[in-house]
Amino acid sequence: MAEQTFANMKAVVSGATGTIGKAVAQRIVTEGGSVIILGRNEGTLQEIVAEIGGDATYRVLDIDDDGAVEAFAQSLDRLDILVTTAGWTVMGPVDEVPVADAMDMFGARFFGQCRLIKSCLPKFDDGGIILMCSGVGNTSFYPRYAYGSAVAGAIEAFAHHIAGELAPRKIRVNVVSPGWTVPEEFDPDRIRSNRGFNNEQQQAEFFAALDSPMHETIAAEEFADALVFCARSRHYTGQVIRLDAGRSVTDKPIDGAVDPMTFAYQS
Ligand SMILES: NC(=O)c1ccc[n+]([C@@H]2O[C@H](COP(=O)([O-])OP(=O)(O)OC[C@H]3O[C@@H](n4cnc5c(N)ncnc54)[C@H](OP(=O)(O)O)[C@@H]3O)[C@@H](O)[C@H]2O)c1
Repeated sequence: MAEQTFANMKAVVSGATGTIGKAVAQRIVTEGGSVIILGRNEGTLQEIVAEIGGDATYRVLDIDDDGAVEAFAQSLDRLDILVTTAGWTVMGPVDEVPVADAMDMFGARFFGQCRLIKSCLPKFDDGGIILMCSGVGNTSFYPRYAYGSAVAGAIEAFAHHIAGELAPRKIRVNVVSPGWTVPEEFDPDRIRSNRGFNNEQQQAEFFAALDSPMHETIAAEEFADALVFCARSRHYTGQVIRLDAGRSVTDKPIDGAVDPMTFAYQS
């Protein structure tokens, strides 16, 4: 049998009750690792532990709570892999979104990832993998998404910096920037605050803006593929894997509205 990527490795995955984190946790146990999954809803955590099987356990943890995160980290024996995908987003025009809502989002989605990493670092031996989650908004224009874009940029800058700080310990830090990654059943409530569209045209524009040049959404399992890649690539650190079906390459459709031949070289 081929060697399993995560054999004998201990992992923690935050946001594991969500679309992306659950797929990552599933892959870790499928590939021989043990995982502690984190979230705030005990019932959902129990269901997911039962569903993914293997060596999986859970802890109820609000990553917005400094003391709770620190206590959780101290309870760990050691750690090889930390994947931080917990978070949510705020959407709306900049003149309408209360800054307090944006600060709330940064609390969980940016500082939540930072505090989990900071608290867990003493549990890594020399070597280890940290994989953060940003989002495509900072590389491409999305209407009504100023704060979501800003948080993605902050996460990538933080990861780039700490990859340098942690390189001497051979801890590799990378980020996946996912494009529109949808579960089988999409729950609109996971996008908070000012999500409401004033009219159908706005809604149509928003969904058109989520489209990618490939006209495809991302599967959460592709995020898990990225973790496997990071685990196998011993010298890959400080990078952002843009898993977005070309959305960060262009926010304009290159078929249909824009004719690529218009830009052909004219001799
Ligand atoms: N899916 C996409 O298209 C996409 C694209 C770009 C970026 N992102 C970002 O990537 C991250 C993961 O996306 P997703 O689609 O997997 O999200 P999701 O399905 O909405 O799941 C979010 C996860 O974050 C957890 N969470 C939120 N706030 C928390 C807190 N304070 N403490 C602990 N856990 C908390 C939730 O756990 P609970 O059970 O406790 O609620 C849940 O497990 C999010 O930050 C999202 O904004 C997603």
